[in-house]
Amino acid sequence: MNVRVGGRTRHYRTVAFDAAKNSVRLIEQRLLPHEFKVVAMRDYRETARAIRDMIVRGAGAIGATAAYGLAQGARAFRGRDGRKFSTHVEAVYRTLEAARPTAVDPVNAMDGVRRAMRNGGTVAQQQALALAAAEDFADADAAHCAAIGRHGASLIRRGMNVLTHCNAGWLAFVDIGSATAPLYAAQAQGKKFHVFCDETRPRSQGATLTAWELAQQKIPHHIIADNAARHLMARGEIDLVIVGSDRTLGRTGEVANKIGTYTKAVLAQRHGIPFYVAIPLSTIDWKLKSGRAIPIEERSADEVLGAWGVNQCGRREYVRVANPGSDARNPGFDVTPPDLITGIITPVGIFRPRQLWANRRKLGY
Ligand code: MRU
Repeated sequence: MNVRVGGRTRHYRTVAFDAAKNSVRLIEQRLLPHEFKVVAMRDYRETARAIRDMIVRGAGAIGATAAYGLAQGARAFRGRDGRKFSTHVEAVYRTLEAARPTAVDPVNAMDGVRRAMRNGGTVAQQQALALAAAEDFADADAAHCAAIGRHGASLIRRGMNVLTHCNAGWLAFVDIGSATAPLYAAQAQGKKFHVFCDETRPRSQGATLTAWELAQQKIPHHIIADNAARHLMARGEIDLVIVGSDRTLGRTGEVANKIGTYTKAVLAQRHGIPFYVAIPLSTIDWKLKSGRAIPIEERSADEVLGAWGVNQCGRREYVRVANPGSDARNPGFDVTPPDLITGIITPVGIFRPRQLWANRRKLGY
């Protein structure tokens, strides 16, 4: 994605690796849209903290970060003892895995890195294979998003109003994004359309990140309060919904995504509006048999009780909004059942959610 900062346009990946410094480089997403900054995580614990504290967030982006984090941890090991090395790598894996539980991409990404490492005999060989596999995951993530764009662009017609929820854009992946990929591909084909970004409380990734991305890309858009979509749908002002996912069950077609997605899917069905989910293959969980088994992250109540923003002096500040003394619940994700979903846009085509399992070979399982 090209970003215009300080009057210059440059291509950035959300996540990258500096092999010389053994550090993971991330766009500090908590500062956006007010400040664009790239930060370096110098060891795997810092990398895990960056995932947990949402310096980096979004399924594919935390997948790539975890893959690099595992390689980073493996490369930091000193010595030749294979057994000690395996114990160390296992500890690195567990630390990164625990950082955020709902998205399956980090687990799929790290499993890929570990599989690749098995082809190495010595510690040094395994360290080299780990980094190569992490780079492969990051490249595949970007390639998958580009392919999602090729398949999804046909859904977008001139003059459409498209609703999206949270941020499944390039900031949520290594590049391009999943839900945004069809938008960017349609724009490249010369189609004119308009996007509504759900604000996406409590962390407001729609208002901050998706709106910033669309502005960078010069796509006309409006931010709407999360509760405004029903009104706009009822008035015929939304033609299509495209969202991302943090974990899609290959066996059932259930889709875990940012809290509030389920509501939008119910509303879309009520108003006869097509509802699509865009995912790379790393977002598919082929193991779980029920959406109820998906671990749903509960985040700090502070996110609901207040909000972060920038004050008049340009300083980042948290303000309490809610009644003093009241507590809050903050589930980060919900699970949308397959009968509310028109189609899943993948890098290999668009499928009905219940067709994923029948097409598992094509989908890389
Ligand atoms: O909590 P986040 O910001 O990491 O949540 C992830 C998301 O941005 C959304 O759920 C998104 O729609 C899917 S991730 C590509």
